[in-house]
Amino acid sequence: MVVIFLDFVKLHEFEKPNDETALSLMNSSSAAVLEEFPDIIFAYGYSDEYSFVFKKTSRFYQRRASKILSLVASFFAAVYVAKWKEFFPQKKLEYAPSFTSKVVSCASVEVLQAYLAWRQLDCHANNQYDTCFWMLVKSGKSISEAQEVLKDTQKQQKNELLFQNFGINYKTLPELFRQGSCLFKKKVDETVKHDENGNPVKRLRRKAVFVHSENISGINFWNEQPSLYNDLGHFTKDIGKIEPDFIRLFQFENKLLPLTWAVVRIDGCHFHRFSDVHEFEKPNDEQALKLMNSCAVAVLKEFENIHFAYGVSDEYSFVLKKESELYKRQSSKIISAVTSFFTSTYVLQWGEFFPHKELKYPPSFDGRAVCYPTYNILLDYLAWRQVDCHINNQYNTCFWMLVKSGKTKTQSQDYLKGTQTREKNELLSRQFGIEYNSLPQIFRMGSSVFRLKSLIFVVTC
Ligand code: GTP
Ligand code: MG
Repeated sequence: MVVIFLDFVKLHEFEKPNDETALSLMNSSSAAVLEEFPDIIFAYGYSDEYSFVFKKTSRFYQRRASKILSLVASFFAAVYVAKWKEFFPQKKLEYAPSFTSKVVSCASVEVLQAYLAWRQLDCHANNQYDTCFWMLVKSGKSISEAQEVLKDTQKQQKNELLFQNFGINYKTLPELFRQGSCLFKKKVDETVKHDENGNPVKRLRRKAVFVHSENISGINFWNEQPSLYNDLGHFTKDIGKIEPDFIRLFQFENKLLPLTWAVVRIDGCHFHRFSDVHEFEKPNDEQALKLMNSCAVAVLKEFENIHFAYGVSDEYSFVLKKESELYKRQSSKIISAVTSFFTSTYVLQWGEFFPHKELKYPPSFDGRAVCYPTYNILLDYLAWRQVDCHINNQYNTCFWMLVKSGKTKTQSQDYLKGTQTREKNELLSRQFGIEYNSLPQIFRMGSSVFRLKSLIFVVTC
């Protein structure tokens, strides 16, 4: 299961305690996640968080946690930004949102049930508190006065406060606020086409639907949905108190080794297809590379702990300084925040770099973090990435020149098989009049980003 939380500034003046439009945008982005990742069976969300439950048998990315949590957060972020205008036509998205995420492994269906109960309890408690708090503030109390009134109050007292002071019956507030939203695929009749007489032709399709329920971890709700119990298991009994051991398990966070250089590397997911669909120039599209660089600059501006970044093609490596305490070194949070922030910036800035090209679908990036104990090993890592850039770029330059000159892709591959650097340079020079070493540095060497005094510059190596 992947859980994601929105890290967003208060810049967009969402309504308090609940902004229905913002919640609908979260829901709509989650629906897109369910469409994109067929192994996700169920999702539950409220406020700024969403949990996605993968089926037990999922082999998605060989169940590698960092891949899964980063991809889901990245895709979610991309959709959130792409859909913003649809939900807030009058409000400019001022800032690229980022989402932190983590994987929670549920060894049995009981653990999953406890997890869902825990999240819905949290939804309820937070919403009740926030509703009281903002009503008190709107009625003239200061923030600290409102906090004081609510200190140590029980559920019942809060309900009474709302009713007596503001005439609000908590139970009649929208389900969306009180209960959160569930999302899962149901078999529904869908019109796929019309026959020659104009009658609709319907087929049974699995479609993501939203449901609100007071108790998503109750057997009444769960065991009535074949699409849930078939892939995730039946709930055997309703649960009362949630085991504290379970809650500790849900809150567990992996940490990066202290005092080591940590590198977060992100890589475009299926960018082979993405660059084809968006007709990137081959082998290098300067605008696409500049967009990547601009996103990397934004990452350095956002995360002070990142000191250096190196990028090539659809990947970027971000180096966190040894002493960094970003997210208390919790690796999932670091990976997901960097990856999703990069992705949302990519979508947000697309139009600046491709003013005449529509973004056809939201891109996603995966992320991983590796710790390097010494400065020299960190340098070895960066050298390895740059050698890779050189080898790939030289090969791709030759390959695409051969293809453009009329050879098939297979012929070009055969032609280049076993050739060394010198031979490739000679081929380019002899056949195409290209001096490899005079090609733009951004293609041959990749790009580095670091701070100079307080400013940030992109410098090609
Ligand atoms: P995964 O990362 O495994 O999901 O696959 P991928 O398709 O993203 O491939 P990979 O990351 O190994 O390689 C990046 C791919 O992005 C390249 O093979 C190219 O197809 C494409 N790409 C990256 N930059 C450019 C570019 O400037 N122009 C073009 N035409 N393609 C590019
Ligand atoms: Mg890639």
